Amino acid sequence: MKSSSRFSAIALVVSLACPAGVRADGEPSLYQRLGGEPVVTRVIEQTLRRVADDPAANRSLEGVDLQKLDAKIVLQVCALAGGGCTYVGDDMKAAHDGMNIGQREFYALVEALRDALDANGVGEREKNELLRLLAPMKRDVVTR
Ligand code: HEM
Repeated sequence: MKSSSRFSAIALVVSLACPAGVRADGEPSLYQRLGGEPVVTRVIEQTLRRVADDPAANRSLEGVDLQKLDAKIVLQVCALAGGGCTYVGDDMKAAHDGMNIGQREFYALVEALRDALDANGVGEREKNELLRLLAPMKRDVVTR
């Protein structure tokens, strides 16, 4: 077998044995229950757009490439919610260091996220599970 076809055979076996985001016990992961990539991408895009348009919360987003930030957060949510991604960005403390982000900005983002999850038909249980995963980041993001 040529090494390239051996590689694709392995990739096929891995993808059949381990579809993205299915847990070992066969239960769908939170990522799957959220609606997978299409829904998570839409939710994060809408969340960031709303924060970026909110004069009370957008100070630190000024001049930021929102598409790039968007992609990093989608990857992070995928990793956190068992979607099988590996987050490769900075940790939350390093990423937000020196931005002087306050509670009000943090809660504006949480509120925007909550509304985007609702608007995309995500269930209460999944919404709360995701918010519970993100809540502990407050201590690394909020520095004043
Ligand atoms: C739970 C809440 C939050 C999460 C999960 C989160 C997640 C992230 C991630 C994954 C990054 C990219 C790190 C990297 O570059 O490797 C990032 C960067 C950043 N975040 Fe947050 N963040 C949160 C809250 C906030 C808040 C409240 C603000 C301000 C309103 C904010 C503003 C920024 C900015 C300005 C950057 C840097 C963007 C850049 O320069 O490219 N974040 N955040």
